[in-house]
Amino acid sequence: MESVPTPPALPPEAALASLAWQIELGATEAIGDAPVNRFALSDMAAPPKGRAAAAPPAPTPSAPAPPAPAGTDPVAAAEAAAAAAPSLAALEAAMAAYPHCALRQGARSLVLADGHPGARVMIIGEAPGREEDLAGRPFVGRAGQLLDRMLAAIGLDRQATDPARAVYITNVLPWRPPQNRDPQPEEIAMMRPFVARHVALATPDFLILMGNISCEAGLGRRGVTRLRGQWAEAFGRPALPMFHPAYLLRNPAAKREAWADLLSLRARLTETPE
Ligand code: URA
Repeated sequence: MESVPTPPALPPEAALASLAWQIELGATEAIGDAPVNRFALSDMAAPPKGRAAAAPPAPTPSAPAPPAPAGTDPVAAAEAAAAAAPSLAALEAAMAAYPHCALRQGARSLVLADGHPGARVMIIGEAPGREEDLAGRPFVGRAGQLLDRMLAAIGLDRQATDPARAVYITNVLPWRPPQNRDPQPEEIAMMRPFVARHVALATPDFLILMGNISCEAGLGRRGVTRLRGQWAEAFGRPALPMFHPAYLLRNPAAKREAWADLLSLRARLTETPE
């Protein structure tokens, strides 16, 4: 068999420029020459060396999936596991042990939440992206930075611990979907009981449903363009659907509506002091 010639090594500056260009073109992963069967890895917390060297350590690594019992209803299993969790730490452990959602296989981290769990406002987003998967925290990428600016505009801050300014942030899905694809309806359905329990344990006064996936999980329907700005009830709490900050980055003109929705949240917080 003819051997494939090894390409000449690039000078460091050229290699760096080539890497920068690939990132500019949208490359988000460094893929090795040889395929890696991640299902067969014995320890997902210890990825192959090249990958580990390139990535900061994830705070809550996705553990290897326990085998999913055959014939189990994933939604019923999620309901039972979530109902049995008496605390947020127990809920995170229950999610880490939940075997039915295949997304965990491709994710570095189980991304549970950020901010203060005693906050009056709980934000529910869609799913971690690449930055969130690396950091182990939700909304840390560009959309997250916009979210922080939006919250700051009405005096809220995910770093704050006093209930008047604090905010608690989570996602419908705790694992990054491959290539940031849209979560599938069955993935939303099986993780929904964990979100419901998360809300019950965090006891926020108000929920913000950021984008269509969150509306589907909380209200059972999509169509955030029509739903946004109208208070509804989700997971037993008053809930305000809003445009997702990633949508606002793509459609800056929609920031006008987002601002109206933020003022509506501010008004609810002021009208109903703790
Ligand atoms: N988008 C989301 O919905 N959640 C995140 O954590 C990041 C981006």
